[in-house]
Amino acid sequence: PSKIPLWLDCDTGHDDAYALLLSAHDPRVELLGVSTVHGNAALDQTTFNTRAILEAIGRRDVKVYSGAAKPIVRDAVHAADIHGESGLDGVTLLPQPIEPAATDVDYLEAMYRALIAHPPNTAWLVSTGTLTNIGLLFQKYIDLASHLKGVSIMGGAVGGGFTNAPMGKVKGEGERFGNWTAYAEFNVYCDPEASHFIFSHPVLRSKTTLIPLDLTHQVLGTKKVRQTLLYGDEIWDSSTPLADRTPTVLRALFTQIMSFFAGTYAEVFSITEGPPLHDPLAVAAAIDPDIFDVKGGERFQVDIVTEGVHSTNQTEVGELGRTKVTKLAEGESGCRIPRGVDLDKFWGSIESALKRADAV
Ligand code: BDR
Ligand code: CA
Repeated sequence: PSKIPLWLDCDTGHDDAYALLLSAHDPRVELLGVSTVHGNAALDQTTFNTRAILEAIGRRDVKVYSGAAKPIVRDAVHAADIHGESGLDGVTLLPQPIEPAATDVDYLEAMYRALIAHPPNTAWLVSTGTLTNIGLLFQKYIDLASHLKGVSIMGGAVGGGFTNAPMGKVKGEGERFGNWTAYAEFNVYCDPEASHFIFSHPVLRSKTTLIPLDLTHQVLGTKKVRQTLLYGDEIWDSSTPLADRTPTVLRALFTQIMSFFAGTYAEVFSITEGPPLHDPLAVAAAIDPDIFDVKGGERFQVDIVTEGVHSTNQTEVGELGRTKVTKLAEGESGCRIPRGVDLDKFWGSIESALKRADAV
C-alpha cells in the first residue's frame, strides 16, 4: 500500500519528540514537513528543539518551518513547570541541529502546498501543539479541509461532560479534568479562539479526530515501557542481564526525555506510574486508526469556551479553554473522539520506529 502523506505541527516538548520519532520513522508514513508553534516554550525554542530531535533521529532532510509565535488574539503561555524553560529540559544527549529552519516560503503556504499536492482523501495533518498554526491555516485555506483525509489533534479535556472520568488529581487540589486549569487542557487553552474556529467548522470538524487527555492518560511510560525503550524489546526474551547491556545513544536520549517528563508529572500531578505520552497518539490515530476504540462511529460536537482571561500559571479558576462535548445524532457532522487504545500495538510502533531510527 502507498504511504500516508503526513504533516506534523508541534511545539517540541518531551512528548512531541516522540511524535516526531513516530512520524519520521514509521514505515507507513511519508513525512512531508514539520511546522512549529509557540506552546511548551517560546517559538524559537520549540523550533530549535524540533530541529535537534530531527538531527538526533537521522532526519535532518525533513524541512522545518517556524510558525506562529503567539495565539491569534491572546498573549502566549508556556509550560515551564512541565517541560522546563527550554521546552526540552533534562536532556544532555541532544545534538546541535545542523539544518536551519526553512525560509523558502511562509509556513502556512508550505503546509498548504505540501498537503494539497496529494490526491484528495489521502493526506493527514497532525497537531501536537497549541492550535494557532492549524487555526490560521484553515482560516486562510478552508478548501484544504475537504481535501484532506483527516486532521488529528492532541488536545482537550473531555472528562466531566463526557465520561465523568477525571484525568487525575493534583497535589493539594481535588479531582480535575484539565491539566492547565481544572477544566482546560494546555493545547486548547493556549489558543481557544483558534480551537473554536476548528471545532465549529462543519467540514473541518467532520475530518477531525480529537485525542483528549483522558485517552492520553491511559498511555503511561511505565517502568516496563522505559526498560524496553532503553534496551530494546529483545530484553524480554533473552537471558542477558540488563546490567550487561549498553543502550544506543538514541535510546539513551529518548530515555532521558521520558525520565524528565516522568519527574515533572510526579511532581506536579502526583502521577507516579509514568508520564502520559500524549502527543504520539495523535500521530498513531492518523497511521493506525484501527488500534483506537471509536464506539460505533460516534460523532461529537465540541464547544470551546472562549470567555475569560489567560493566566500564566496553573492556578486559574474559570472555564476558559474548556471543551464541552455533546454526542450527535447519526449523520450529523462532528469529530471522532476515541475512548481507548491498544497499548501493546501503540508501544510496538514506538519500538519499531526506534529500531529504524537506530539503523540510520
Ligand atoms: C499537551 O501539552 C503539552 O505540554 C504536551 O506536549 C501536549 O501536547 C498535553 O496537554
Ligand atoms: Ca505538544
